[in-house]
Amino acid sequence: MLEKETSQSFKDATFGHQPVMAQESFAALGVRPNGLYVDCTLGGGGHSRLILRHLGENGRLLALDLDPAAIEAAKTWGAHDPRLILRKADFRDLTELLAETGLGQVDGILVDLGVNSGQLLSSARGFSFQGDGPLDMRFDPERGQTAADILNSYGEKALADLFYRYGEERGARRLARAIVETRAKVPFSRTGELVALANKILGHKTRQRRINPATRVFLALRSEVNDEPGALARLLNAAWDNLKLGGRLVIISFHSMEDREVKNLFRKGPKDVPALWQGLWKKPHYPSEKELALNPRSRSARMRAGVKLKGSLT
Ligand SMILES: C[S@@+](CC[C@H](N)C(=O)[O-])C[C@H]1O[C@@H](n2cnc3c(N)ncnc32)[C@H](O)[C@@H]1O
Repeated sequence: MLEKETSQSFKDATFGHQPVMAQESFAALGVRPNGLYVDCTLGGGGHSRLILRHLGENGRLLALDLDPAAIEAAKTWGAHDPRLILRKADFRDLTELLAETGLGQVDGILVDLGVNSGQLLSSARGFSFQGDGPLDMRFDPERGQTAADILNSYGEKALADLFYRYGEERGARRLARAIVETRAKVPFSRTGELVALANKILGHKTRQRRINPATRVFLALRSEVNDEPGALARLLNAAWDNLKLGGRLVIISFHSMEDREVKNLFRKGPKDVPALWQGLWKKPHYPSEKELALNPRSRSARMRAGVKLKGSLT
């Protein structure tokens, strides 16, 4: 049904974002008509609308996004739906949000990490290395430090660490040194300046280096700007606290570092508690060939899902 919705107004309301692994994640969530669900990453609302289509009148969906544009867009199709609760919020605050909305423990939590197509295609947001724009990269453009703030203020070692840790970039030190030298003359403000420097220092896309060198650099900066690892760690704990027994957590990630966190969670369980999460599958699930052909942006996606089996040690 999702593929049929192709009108312009619909594309505007969803930023043209194609939900990744939509049917598979919906199935993994095990949506029941009267259940309570959270979509932690509303984006263009593809996953949320799929869930709503299967909820009865007593079912509820809390849908969050840090980006006010995502919430505004969802109001165009969801403002009058009493089953839908929209919040501009950080998923790391899930516990507080569920308490505030009075929903209590829920049956399922869906997380589809990363950026939505609207954010990526808008050069004004600075997420993409294609097309010039301000070095911003904040999911929430109303608060926090921008990518330019980080590039212009972090010390050389801190920059190198972040490119290495979050971007797995082998040329992290060389790039950090060049950033510090460049900004001593003119501070960074545009994405194009960073792309040009990354190409100069790390080399252009080649047969050996099949991705543009700016890819990892942008990924690392975006992770730092939004503290993505910190947000995910908090969410994984909150998911445990806020799921009912038998409740499910489904996570789609695009980054090996994030996938490792999720894999470890389902293997070891929350800190200091025996393994009470049960992963639905041993290995992650990937988009089908058909989806990859229809939506190339899904190519690095992987999905894991787990069930909460016991609530305490006693
Ligand atoms: C890949 S998109 C989600 C797409 C969505 N599932 C769909 O079908 O359209 C990820 C979304 O998560 C949001 N986001 C990222 N980190 C967040 C956080 N810590 N809290 C809330 N939203 C976040 C981004 O603003 C973005 O809109």
